[in-house]
Amino acid sequence: MVEFEPKIIGFLCNWCSYAGADLAGVSRIQYPPNIRVIRVMCSGRVDPVIVLEMFANGADGVMVMGCHPGECHYLEGNLYAEWRIKMLKKLMACAGLEPERLRLEWVSAAEGSRFANMVKDFTNQLKGLGPSPLASEKPDETILASIRAAERAAGTSRLRTLVGREKELAEEENVYGEKVTQEEFDKLMDESVKEEHLRSRIYLLTKDKSMSVKELAKHLSVDTRVVLRHIVVLRRKGLLAMDRIEGISPLYVALEAR
Ligand code: FES
Repeated sequence: MVEFEPKIIGFLCNWCSYAGADLAGVSRIQYPPNIRVIRVMCSGRVDPVIVLEMFANGADGVMVMGCHPGECHYLEGNLYAEWRIKMLKKLMACAGLEPERLRLEWVSAAEGSRFANMVKDFTNQLKGLGPSPLASEKPDETILASIRAAERAAGTSRLRTLVGREKELAEEENVYGEKVTQEEFDKLMDESVKEEHLRSRIYLLTKDKSMSVKELAKHLSVDTRVVLRHIVVLRRKGLLAMDRIEGISPLYVALEAR
């Protein structure tokens, strides 16, 4: 039997990891050919939506590599990358895709062998996990729909704002003179990720056909009261409207985002 060879997409920072990969190449350090490299100017430039798009298109793993903490050329880019990856892993877990398929590593320009070891290690880890459920010709439809919802959720202003404000909220006092503890922030992030993911699923489902609260609750395996709460929010945002009434049930339809 032919051994499974994972497809890995690597986002490498131009100033450190990309140079580290280059050094591994010129030093003839062997590493698995499974990684496809995309050069970015900073790990902080890797948008969460793009990472999820890679998974939706069948990547078995995604690796983001940046400068070591304190060495980012744009000061805090790698810090933002770390927060984004944390949020992305939570979204992946909501979508039913193993968060271990996403990795963040620090590799400097002088660390060619570290780069090679990271790629080896990640390739082996992915071989252990097996192919992504989205990598075959017939991807798992449920997980794909869930990853599409995660993509949408990752682009919402709520999650984008929260990720960018972790440091500020943890270090500075709010207008009431209070600081948010790390524990409180993590809880807030967990809840926001789950809510935005579910809301995005409702939005995408009602884009294809009008659905009642009961149908949505059944499809998503959640309580009707939870669905109703999200419908209220989506309607308030102008993203959902009542299409028609069937029997005694109102059916809802998604509106194009303005
Ligand atoms: Fe390398 Fe920011 S410049 S991670």
